[in-house]
Amino acid sequence: MPRLHEKMESNERTPLIATVHVAPPRQRYQHSTVRRFCTIALCSTLLMATVFFLVPLAFLPGHRHHRQPLPSPHHSTTSIPYKELQAILLNEPKAEKAQEWSKYYTAGPHLAGKNYSQVLWTQERWEDFGIKAGIVAYDVYINYPLGHRLALYEKKKAKDSEASEWKVKFEASLEEDVLEEDPTTGLENRIPTFHGYSASGNVTAPYVYVNYGTYQDYEDLVNANVSLKGKIALAKYGGIFRGLKIKRAQDLGMIGAVLFTDPGDDGGVTEENGVGLYPDGPARNPSSVQRGSTQFLSVAPGDPTTPGYPSKPGVPRQPVDGSIPSIPSIPISYVDALPLLKALNGIGPAPKDLNKWWERNLGLKYKGVEYNVGPSPDDLVLNLVNEQEYVTTPLWNVIGVINGTLLDEVIVIGNHRDAWIAGGAGDPNSGSAALNEVIRSFGVALSKGWKPLRTIVFASWDGEEYGLIGSTEWVEEYLPWLSAANVAYVNVDVATVGPSFKAAASPLLNQALYDIVSKIPSPNQTISGQTVGDLWDHKISTMGSGSDFTAFQDFAGIPSIDMGFGPDPEAPGDTGGAVYQYHSNYDSFYWMNTYGDPGFHYHETMAKLWALFTAKLAETPVIPLNATDYALAIQGYISNVETKIDAAIAGTTTEESELEARGRPSPSAPIGSISKVKISFRKLHEAASSLLAAAINHDSWAAKLAEEAGEDIPWWKWFTKVKLYFHIRRANDKYKFLERQFLYKEGLDGRPWFKHVIFAPGLWTGYAGAVFPGLQESIDDRDFRNAKKWVGIIEGTIIKAAKSLK
Ligand SMILES: *[C@@H]1O[C@H](CO)[C@@H](O)[C@H](O)[C@H]1NC(C)=O
Ligand SMILES: *[C@@H]1O[C@H](CO)[C@@H](O)[C@H](O)[C@H]1NC(C)=O
Ligand SMILES: *[C@@H]1O[C@H](CO)[C@@H](O)[C@H](O)[C@H]1NC(C)=O
Ligand SMILES: *[C@@H]1O[C@H](CO)[C@@H](O)[C@H](O)[C@H]1NC(C)=O
Ligand SMILES: *[C@@H]1O[C@H](CO)[C@@H](O)[C@H](O)[C@H]1NC(C)=O
Ligand SMILES: *[C@@H]1O[C@H](CO)[C@@H](O)[C@H](O)[C@H]1NC(C)=O
Repeated sequence: MPRLHEKMESNERTPLIATVHVAPPRQRYQHSTVRRFCTIALCSTLLMATVFFLVPLAFLPGHRHHRQPLPSPHHSTTSIPYKELQAILLNEPKAEKAQEWSKYYTAGPHLAGKNYSQVLWTQERWEDFGIKAGIVAYDVYINYPLGHRLALYEKKKAKDSEASEWKVKFEASLEEDVLEEDPTTGLENRIPTFHGYSASGNVTAPYVYVNYGTYQDYEDLVNANVSLKGKIALAKYGGIFRGLKIKRAQDLGMIGAVLFTDPGDDGGVTEENGVGLYPDGPARNPSSVQRGSTQFLSVAPGDPTTPGYPSKPGVPRQPVDGSIPSIPSIPISYVDALPLLKALNGIGPAPKDLNKWWERNLGLKYKGVEYNVGPSPDDLVLNLVNEQEYVTTPLWNVIGVINGTLLDEVIVIGNHRDAWIAGGAGDPNSGSAALNEVIRSFGVALSKGWKPLRTIVFASWDGEEYGLIGSTEWVEEYLPWLSAANVAYVNVDVATVGPSFKAAASPLLNQALYDIVSKIPSPNQTISGQTVGDLWDHKISTMGSGSDFTAFQDFAGIPSIDMGFGPDPEAPGDTGGAVYQYHSNYDSFYWMNTYGDPGFHYHETMAKLWALFTAKLAETPVIPLNATDYALAIQGYISNVETKIDAAIAGTTTEESELEARGRPSPSAPIGSISKVKISFRKLHEAASSLLAAAINHDSWAAKLAEEAGEDIPWWKWFTKVKLYFHIRRANDKYKFLERQFLYKEGLDGRPWFKHVIFAPGLWTGYAGAVFPGLQESIDDRDFRNAKKWVGIIEGTIIKAAKSLK
């Protein structure tokens, strides 16, 4: 694709935001000449004049309520009132429009780095909506599928002869059924089933069923003397990130891995329970296959050849050993898995011979599968072929910008565009459709004279599916600017594939979210007037990984949130929504319109929620972060870790901690003393109390400033106004930099890319969030000396955070 390449290079010199220069906080310059001094003095005077007389006027709402919007919004310092903006953002997003965008994105393949016309189309739509947008490209190392095969061979005695020969007993289709109702499934150029970052290979060997392929599942097999070396693993999806299943197989000397989806993990929405199969009903189509990345995500996301720096053309590349698998793997459907599983019936341990973890969610028992582990005898072998083409190729983020009055306070919002399949109506294009509606609505506000107070950046990321590549490389490239200016990042990946609202966030953003969900009407009101907030359990999870917020939150220390609507597996029967056939051909427009979100009302709701949330962050004069909530959350996390240590001493565990422990190695003999760690916990609590005190103080000062800013200040009290402006700017700086205080330059043990001491993806789960990862992992390893080191690091960052608020 040389022509595309040229295009991208000409674009890449002028990324919109690269021209926004913001000095990092507290940077000191060494000026040696008088001339330089004079230039600076002159500039400063001009700047001061502007800041003193124009910015405060634009900034404070007292002024904003009284002026009529000027006809030329981009160059005026006036704006429409916040209430009017909110009304636009609540009324403008339309289900029909979201449906139109969804139809476009799901019309053809858009794997990372593969569909430049979708990039241009996205940029053009945003420009049509009135937002300046550019394309930022990176050259990244990724794979595309060439071929695959999975066959079960049996050695049979040939008739009338002593010799025996190999016969194919079963040839897996590795294809999803083409459905008449669902045109996406029959596209000529649909994407084959494969794994991102999987290794090419052609292996033939006996195979072993390894349950979910967690660390402890493999340990159970080792303890049961099941031979693994030289065999192929057959693992169920679920529980932990798929790449980690393959990593452990590889570490144990296995030579290939086959991953299948078990309907036992679909809750109550199954054929076994009498629910119709897609397309006739909401249960999983038996041929559906989960594609997905097998990168070792919890070590570092992004381009594996450029850890920590942007994948610009010509940069040095690192070897990928240790960050992606070296053994071949392929994903299959349960239809293709059935003959392999059945062939193991009666061979090797059965689930009841192992432990309770092997007896969960056995969704194919009703089809005659006993779930014996094998290994298959030497005359029953699998041939697994995986052919991947590895290339270094451009991918493209679309970045839109609305400059605010303030250029050094920036809100970034984003969604990824790339999908594993031609469709991707849920993942990610329900989010892309909602994002277009958010941007279109902001465009309408601009046309009515709105100018945001803070700068807003919109991102359509590429390459998320392979390993959060587009967003990670972008954050790595713009780190100095983001560190200095970025107030928050708002991510929506899957906007909707079900009726139940879900969110994960830095606690700084909790209050802002509670406020906004109470303003958004629910698309499914059983009582008139119900909001999204009324139908939500108000549970905000801790940030793990698995989407584009990771580089913002865990690498750059920018408070982030991730939200969307999904199925509710706890709901009775199929009231929690249809089975979401993740990363399969059935995540299509037809599925979305029939089962996922008929009428696209949840798309519209998500666009309103996202837009209003962004507007709150961008428009409220005092940044609406809440430090008290962060301090309270930290106290809670400390108590949890303490409980965990107590449990480790007493040797007791909870169901939840046991489940989590299935993912990681058994602890070795303790290193260092538990009681010493216990003692230093007191210091952690003291640090957290001082942070809480400082946070309460800061929040109440900020609340007082917010109140003053809300009052009408007559023009002749301009000095009060200017003074208030500077106080608010000071308070806002403290909010802006609070999350950064929790970064630790050296990073986590063994994965230095992850800099945040409070949040990281679990090392052995990949997706789920771990709090105090350095400390928790030390305790899990029973390395109490290292735990003590982490207590010290954490205490240091908490004290630093408390000081930063004073
Ligand atoms: C935003 O402002 C910066 C600095 O003044 C400028 O360089 C940039 O072109 C502006 N971007 C847009 C999209 O207006
Ligand atoms: C790119 O995406 C568009 C819109 O979804 C689709 O129509 C087209 O077939 C895709 N192009 C390629 C080369 O896959
Ligand atoms: C895989 O290896 C076997 C044995 O060497 C060979 O016969 C077969 O042709 C290979 N398959 C492919 C697709 O390369
Ligand atoms: C596994 O083998 C070891 C050593 O040969 C033996 O002591 C142990 O009992 C075996 N365990 C099982 C579950 O067969
Ligand atoms: C709306 O909510 C009711 C009650 O929670 C539920 O039974 C119904 O299935 C929901 N409908 C949709 C379309 O989500
Ligand atoms: C900040 O959070 C605390 C604790 O949840 C709450 O009491 C307080 O009202 C919040 N302040 C604001 C301004 O939202």
